[in-house]
Amino acid sequence: MSILSGKHILLGVTGSIACYKAADLASKLSQAGAQVDVILTGAGENFVTPLTFQSVTGRRAYTDQDLWGNEAHVLHVSFGKTADLLVVAPCTANTMAKLAHGIADNLLTVTALAAQCPLVIAPAMDGGMFSNPATQENLKTLKNRGAVVVGPAEGHLASGLTGTGRMVEPAEILSQVRVVLGKNGILAGKKIVVTAGGTQEAIDPVRVITNHSSGKQGYAIAQAALDAGAEVCLITAPTAINPPVGARVIKVNSAQSMLDAVLAEPADALIMAAAAADFTPKTVAREKMKKRDGIPQIELTAATDILGTISIQQPHLFRKVIGFAAESQDLLENAAEKLRSKKLDLIVANDISAADAGFAVDTNRVIFLFPNGTSEILPLMSKTDVAEKIIEHTSMLLE
Ligand code: CTP
Repeated sequence: MSILSGKHILLGVTGSIACYKAADLASKLSQAGAQVDVILTGAGENFVTPLTFQSVTGRRAYTDQDLWGNEAHVLHVSFGKTADLLVVAPCTANTMAKLAHGIADNLLTVTALAAQCPLVIAPAMDGGMFSNPATQENLKTLKNRGAVVVGPAEGHLASGLTGTGRMVEPAEILSQVRVVLGKNGILAGKKIVVTAGGTQEAIDPVRVITNHSSGKQGYAIAQAALDAGAEVCLITAPTAINPPVGARVIKVNSAQSMLDAVLAEPADALIMAAAAADFTPKTVAREKMKKRDGIPQIELTAATDILGTISIQQPHLFRKVIGFAAESQDLLENAAEKLRSKKLDLIVANDISAADAGFAVDTNRVIFLFPNGTSEILPLMSKTDVAEKIIEHTSMLLE
């Protein structure tokens, strides 16, 4: 279940051309399972209509007319009581000023004043308006009160000028929303280190030996840990996907550099989802190998075993250690052996010979094995769901 499932989110939309992106944000929040009630300001209505939002949320969108309608005396109070989060995106300089000073002259600002939930704002305005000391003071006031400010980004502005003032993309706002909602989750106050991706072992300055790992499962675990309120350090080999917002990302290449990074990050738990190399070239050619010199013989040697090293040299660096076993044969026997030899608290075994599990695909079929000999067989699931299960177990292990 997504962290947004069943959450009541108020989305305030104020008068900026970035309103068109707010429709995408409302759609993304709804698709993730949230109940989204949109409140448009009068200026917002000049750019988009309530129908735009009703069409994507499946719920009525509210305007200032509702402030004086039948529900008037209760609407903002009930919104304020039931909302899990108030997001104002785009947030103009004017609305930001009102929020900072407690001015309540429309449905959105009166609701903001009544709301007891966290506030996320995504400013959108011209660069000069954003850098104006008045706006900066308002921003500081809101931040000091605990508001989470996402952006603004730098780039082309509606005025035709370039500067800082563009609303950030909906995907980034969504990620921040998840971080804020996860604050009191099952891993609140815990630090989790997640490794991901396939390491790259250099042959020469341009060539590497790597594997098919996409990093998807590791990144999904990092996201699930963030959703559960953990402080997350993601140590990642090169991948083509974007790391989750809120994670501290450390980029590495080889198994050795991954080990060095892991050793520098003591934490409550280490989740080793990376496909770290088992073999590495014995020597790295200083210059690019040339074809004219013939076909090279590359001698391999054992790569650093990260979990093996930790279990022997630094067993107290992590309270709990979770590993993976990607196997193409004798899944359970091999996984059980790794669980024992690497002194793990849990091993996630997956059969990479199945077409719908393992590398690059979005689904996985895994079995959890525990040191006491028990196991849990999970059905075919999305990597996101597998990640949530791993995080649930991590939380239980840390109890
Ligand atoms: N692992 C590691 N260091 C390595 C290679 C793997 O710490 N150099 C970790 C992986 O991140 C995973 C676990 O060890 O959590 C098992 O990885 P896997 O490659 O399946 O097992 P190996 O022990 O390397 O054994 P083999 O490749 O022979 O199956």
